[in-house]
Amino acid sequence: MQLFLHLALATFVVAQSEPLAAITPPKGTQATNLPALGLGTWYAKGSNATAAVAQAIVDGYRLIDTSPFYNNQKEVGAGVREGIKRAGISRQDVWVTSKLWTTKHSDPNGGLKETLAELGLDYVDLWLIHWPMGPGNTFDHVPTWQKMEKLPATKMTRYIGISNFSPAQVKDVLKVATIKPKVMQIELHPYLPQEDFVASLQKQGITVNAYAPLGNTNPAYKSSATKLLQHSTIRSIASARGCTPAQVVLAWNMKRSVVVIPKAVQIAHQKENIATPACAAKLTAEDLEKIAQISNPPHRFMSSPCASNQFKCFEGTTKGF
Ligand SMILES: NC(=O)c1ccc[n+]([C@@H]2O[C@H](COP(=O)([O-])OP(=O)(O)OC[C@H]3O[C@@H](n4cnc5c(N)ncnc54)[C@H](OP(=O)(O)O)[C@@H]3O)[C@@H](O)[C@H]2O)c1
Repeated sequence: MQLFLHLALATFVVAQSEPLAAITPPKGTQATNLPALGLGTWYAKGSNATAAVAQAIVDGYRLIDTSPFYNNQKEVGAGVREGIKRAGISRQDVWVTSKLWTTKHSDPNGGLKETLAELGLDYVDLWLIHWPMGPGNTFDHVPTWQKMEKLPATKMTRYIGISNFSPAQVKDVLKVATIKPKVMQIELHPYLPQEDFVASLQKQGITVNAYAPLGNTNPAYKSSATKLLQHSTIRSIASARGCTPAQVVLAWNMKRSVVVIPKAVQIAHQKENIATPACAAKLTAEDLEKIAQISNPPHRFMSSPCASNQFKCFEGTTKGF
């Protein structure tokens, strides 16, 4: 059983135009794309964060997502180093993503150096612009991207990408880019599928990475909508297919080649989430159609920092480009 699970995880590839890497690629292969499922770390704090990240790596996770904004890069970096040691793998076997915070847009190089010092790592695999706006809430995404493009040559990051951009802002970047964004990280779950936007990004060869893949499960998201994992559609599909509700919603994104990074400090949650491929294999076209109805009406749970600043974010994200 153990061996079967291991093989299933190692060979899980989402069928799509640009096949995604396995969740746990074979040792020694430095991934050229994100593993299909990884670990988020927003709200993972202190020694819990270190223990959770280390255990996740021991259990087969090969993608860890953090940001200076999460105020945990020291602990997350310690977890990455400890996990690598305990799993008997090397740094190149784990994909680490971090992000340029808004206050550092004038100096992505300096921001990246600070992140590496906090993580205690020589490089990250992916460095994202966390939000399209910089200090003073100005949209400075184009000049910021142009500065980001200098970074892969420094070897401090292997790839660069974007997060929370609107379709128009992605187009602005593509117009001037000499390096295409490798990844776009946005909020995506059955309450907010953003199908056309996802399709446009994937058509451009940009890997789409979902945050909040469990919808409003993170207690930080205040909303009166039914908790996604309690939604009757999700629960009835989960029980019919022998999956858990979390696996159904993660599988739904993975089946459209969207990389998911559920945050989980509880080891039981981590183990449940990494076993999602077995559930994905059981979902039918009819199940996916039922899940699509959940977004009527759609719900977005991330508002900060836009709402607090009366700032227009996410304009046109229900449309493609
Ligand atoms: N680019 C951006 O602007 C942005 C914004 C938000 C998030 N992110 C990234 O995306 C990651 C994921 O998003 P998120 O943390 O907001 O939300 P999420 O991963 O959808 O939800 C996290 C919550 O779900 C719980 N959970 C995990 N697995 C579960 C399971 N199998 N069953 C029930 N509950 C489960 C976790 O509990 P426990 O921790 O207690 O196990 C935690 O409370 C973040 O951690 C961060 O790395 C990026």
